Order: sequence, then structure tokens, then C-alpha cells
Amino acid sequence: MTKQVAVIGSLNYDIIVKQQRMPHKGETFIADTLIQGPGGKGANQAAQCAKLGLPTMMIGKVGQDRFGDALVGSLTAIGVDTSHIKRIGSTGLGVVNVMPDGDYYSSIIKGANELITIQDIDEIMEELKEAAFIILQQEIPQQVTEYVIERFKDSEIQIVLNNAPARTIPTDVLQFVDLLIVNESEAAYMTGKPVTTVSEAEDIGKKLQKITGNTVIVTLGKEGSIAVNNQDSSYFPAKKVKAVDATGAGDSFIGALVYGLSESLSLEECMKFATEVSAKTVMQEGGQDSFPTKAEMSRIVIR
Ligand code: RIB
Repeated sequence: MTKQVAVIGSLNYDIIVKQQRMPHKGETFIADTLIQGPGGKGANQAAQCAKLGLPTMMIGKVGQDRFGDALVGSLTAIGVDTSHIKRIGSTGLGVVNVMPDGDYYSSIIKGANELITIQDIDEIMEELKEAAFIILQQEIPQQVTEYVIERFKDSEIQIVLNNAPARTIPTDVLQFVDLLIVNESEAAYMTGKPVTTVSEAEDIGKKLQKITGNTVIVTLGKEGSIAVNNQDSSYFPAKKVKAVDATGAGDSFIGALVYGLSESLSLEECMKFATEVSAKTVMQEGGQDSFPTKAEMSRIVIR
């Protein structure tokens, strides 16, 4: 039976500017192109889950403005249950500068994402209990994230936490996260150690795994990713592709991982599938529009 995913997180309207380089201090730089569209780590992860065919609901807040209309509209069109997205204030924004090699610099304006409350979670507790996976990120108030983790710590529901942007999470909360996913800079923030090589990432992944006691994944962009669990740690190189825009690639990776888990794939198979999915994502411009569908991935054999 296909499993249900609940994503509790952010929705941002993304303004993506493609340019040759970042301007220097005081410089006005002429950029190349502008791409606008739906984003936000929560919405992106929900979009990728739904595009791969998982029944997915999004819990979050957008503004009573045209950006909010666009975000709810696009997720609904993808097939995400948007009935638990509330409208208040102004929509969160993502401002992303994408370089010619696909690398990006991203800033967010929190907007309505910051107005999600514990009461909002309590109101949909019965629906959340039906989920097989709850996916969280850190673009909503941290007390809400921690509340959800605490509330479901004794349940069968798999808690997936993407600690992005990185925040300090108490160990007695982190230990209830079933799958922790961080990129190299978030891993460095959490451990106070730089991550510049695959072997440093592996060491830090092991350190974080000792804290959670569960599975930890450290993503390294073009270098690939590391998965560490109770048994071992493995490195998965990224696919060599022509990257044009990595915006949302990490979110696409997470949606694909959860898809793999919901299909009861092994961790290795999940990582290989997520690597394939995110490689497709970086080859196209934009955020959610660049995420592949189940049909597009159907020819990939991973076991
Ligand atoms: O992970 C990419 C996302 O981060 C963007 O869509 C942007 O909105 C920020 O939330």
C-alpha cells in the first residue's frame, strides 16, 4: 500500500536570478535572466514526493497575496493535499542567485512561514497520525519542529528532519529523529567542524549518527552524499551531469529518499534513487518545475 507523507514546513515564492558571478561589495552587476516560481524547502519536498506518486499533504502558511495563490495553486496541480495550508500575512520569499555551474546562493524572507504555531499542529493531529512519514525542515519556528518530533517520538511514524537552515537542536530531541539530512555547511554548523572533503563528511556523519542513533545523511552537492546508520557508512558519488540550476536539488533528493523508503527499498537503493532524481533536477532550470515525475524515473533500475 502506498504510504502517506505529511510535510510540515515552508512555502516560499522564489525569485531566481541567473548571473555569471556575485557582485562585489558596492558593485552593481548586470544579471542574465530571472526565473520566478514556487519554492520553499517544505513545499519543494512535498512537490517531489507527490511527483513520484506519494499521497502527500502540506501543512504550512502562505500570505493572502498573489504569491500565496501561486504556491497553493502549483502544489494542488501537482497533486499535493493543500487543505491544511492556511492564509495569513504575506508569503515567504526565496531570493536565489544561480551561477553558470548551477551553484547557488540563497536567502529567505520568512513571512507567513514564521506564523505556524503549535496550535495549528494540534488542530490536525488526527490527520497527522495517519501518516507514515512526517518531513520537517527549519524554515518554520523551531518550537513547532521540536513539538512535532516530541509528539510523535513513540509512534510508528518515521520522522525525517532536514536541519536547513541549520539550527542547534537539543540532543534529547534529535535522538527521536529517524532520518536526519544535512548538507556540508549544515553538518559543519551542527558539529563545529569544517566539512571540505568526503572523508570529513563521513566522520561528521558518524558523529551525528551517534547523537540520533538512527540514519544520518550528509549531502555534498557535486561530490555526492554519505549515508551512515547503525551498521555502516557509505559514500554515493553524484552523477556527472551538466548542471544548470541546483535550486531545490537537495529537496528533490529528500523527496526521492522518502519515496524509496515508502517502497521499502534498502538505504543503499534509496540513496542511489535519490542521486538519480536530484541529477535530473539540476539539469533543468528552476525549482519544483525541474523535479522529475515517476514516469520520468520509470526507466531507472536500482535493484
Ligand atoms: O532548498 C531550496 C529552497 O530554499 C528554495 O526554494 C528557497 O525558497 C529556500 O527555501
